Amino acid sequence: MALTFHPSREAIALALDKMKENGLVHPDAAFNENAPGGLRSEVAYRDPYFAHRLGRTSLESRIVDSALELLKREGHVPVSADYDRLAVDSHRADLKEKFEGPWTSLSPTMERLIYMLTSVKRPAHLLELGSFWGYTLAWFAGPCIGPNRAYEAERIIGIDVDADMVKKARANFEKLERAAAVELIAEDARAALDRIEGPLDFVYLEAKYENRQIAAAEASGENDPLGPVSGLYLILLKQIYDRLPEGAWVMAHDNLDWTAKKELAPYLAFVRDKAHFSESICFDIDDCGMELSIK
Ligand SMILES: C[S@@+](CC[C@H](N)C(=O)[O-])C[C@H]1O[C@@H](n2cnc3c(N)ncnc32)[C@H](O)[C@@H]1O
Repeated sequence: MALTFHPSREAIALALDKMKENGLVHPDAAFNENAPGGLRSEVAYRDPYFAHRLGRTSLESRIVDSALELLKREGHVPVSADYDRLAVDSHRADLKEKFEGPWTSLSPTMERLIYMLTSVKRPAHLLELGSFWGYTLAWFAGPCIGPNRAYEAERIIGIDVDADMVKKARANFEKLERAAAVELIAEDARAALDRIEGPLDFVYLEAKYENRQIAAAEASGENDPLGPVSGLYLILLKQIYDRLPEGAWVMAHDNLDWTAKKELAPYLAFVRDKAHFSESICFDIDDCGMELSIK
């Protein structure tokens, strides 16, 4: 006779908690008691490796077509709304040749999704907070810059507190055709926003500190004169909320990045509250994700 002894459920839960604490599995992971193979860490959770791959498949274009269908079905864009698929390919080649900067987490599917969203929204006033070295802004503003631009926007503004990155962004946009409307501001967005007038019909949030930067700032005990460094998305959104006309779109990157979960939770609760936005859509297309909120 063969016997198998299993530790208690409590012990299993403690072991799993340790894995969560060390960032090895998702905070929402749960042990699957019915998994074949006995005691092992078969847990159900949001897997970043899988989601990373999901953002990099040959079905990129079809995934974005389905996202566009959803927007039409829900009445957020006209049924005739569309975007230039060939322009995405040439824009991608243009950026690959001309843009220089550090690693970026935007997956190809996310790039196309962003390009499609701006194409179908056709905002006149675009604002990105945390525009880094310009790559994310180049996708956000893609349909209004470059040789194949679909339309001319009135304002395309990118703000980042990192002056070196803004310098790189300026150099990058100088190499692109028909990108003269792009205005880059090297300043803390919390201060710069005081000078940005409404209306803002499409805002893109990328401005946040890494967890280790937040922890270091909090540990140092030094007060940032502009306020807390964590929860920046919500701080910035509240600052400009009154400048968003009805129907304005706000998108926030990394809503599904589990390392940013604590940072994003209050933001997501705010935008998913009907009192603030009529609709909020989570695009679960890669490891980072994108939240599009419609005022
Ligand atoms: C990590 S980057 C975003 C990168 C993007 N996810 C990508 O993959 O390319 C976040 C940016 O926010 C900027 N940032 C942080 N706090 C800011 C603030 N208070 N005002 C403006 N920019 C800020 C940082 O300088 C940084 O360039």
